[in-house]
Amino acid sequence: MMGNNEITKYLAEKKKIVDSAIKKYFADFNPLFETMYYSVDGGKRIRPILAIASFESCGGKNIETILPIACGLELIHTYSLIHDDLPAMDNDDFRRGKESAHKKFGEAMAILSGDGLFAYAFELFTEGANLINEKFAAMKAVSEVVGPKGIVYGQVLDISDRKELSPKALRKIHLNKTAKFIAVAVKVGAIMAQSPKDTIDVLYNAGLYLGILFQYTDDILDVIGEKNKLGKTPGKDVASSKLTAPALYGIDGTRFRAKRYAELAKIKFSTLGDNFRIFNALTDFILTRTY
Ligand code: IPE
Ligand code: IPE
Ligand code: MG
Ligand code: MG
Ligand code: MG
Repeated sequence: MMGNNEITKYLAEKKKIVDSAIKKYFADFNPLFETMYYSVDGGKRIRPILAIASFESCGGKNIETILPIACGLELIHTYSLIHDDLPAMDNDDFRRGKESAHKKFGEAMAILSGDGLFAYAFELFTEGANLINEKFAAMKAVSEVVGPKGIVYGQVLDISDRKELSPKALRKIHLNKTAKFIAVAVKVGAIMAQSPKDTIDVLYNAGLYLGILFQYTDDILDVIGEKNKLGKTPGKDVASSKLTAPALYGIDGTRFRAKRYAELAKIKFSTLGDNFRIFNALTDFILTRTY
């Protein structure tokens, strides 16, 4: 078993690797890169870390094989946050512990830097001359879950004010806006490590549980989290009458269900054997996180 300190250390080490890899993609090509980097800087890097953890658990040796893709995921994630915060969406002026992009640079530049990050991610995915088939498979998998069958669709459902208050509707929002993307982060690590299809499929399915869990804890933190620790404004979901897990199940009911999703994720990961035990600790971290 991995203790609390060990997972904290693991996350910090991986975050450092991701942060410095990201940085080199933002050397000054033009001033837009500086604007984009402002928003990229400061996240927890959970998605790239999941991709790396999966790559290494699958026996991948050279981290450079997965890093550009891991960084690309973070750029897509950041774009989704910039647009999520816009006045037309969640209207949040605070993100990653500082003014959100539209507050800092104006709405037009926020929209454009999101567009830039989304496109730039795909440039990162194509980096390098080897493992072309794996890269194609990774890009296919990512592109399928970040657009109209994934994040963008989830966001459309999330902002709709005509949604029914049902477990099924909640699940559809969570699956699309968050879980598929988390799951694909786990999946691309396995793809780039040239894992067999069965392993890739198990990891994707385990990743979906992890992703639903991730949005459950995000919803909980919106209710009970602290602004400075979260780096974003809590209380926004109730204020905008969002369909969230606490809105449907209450805080206790949400915590109960979050634990169950964590168990389901861990059971699935554990079927892959001892090499994947880091996912136990990662799941527990996501369950108990405070930011
Ligand atoms: C927040 O994601 C948005 C969701 C999909 C729930 P994170 O909690 O990973 O945010 P950062 O990247 O650490 O800022
Ligand atoms: C956002 O969900 C999901 C995406 C950005 C796609 P939230 O709206 O709950 O995320 P936060 O709480 O603003 O980070
Ligand atoms: Mg939102
Ligand atoms: Mg939001
Ligand atoms: Mg939220």
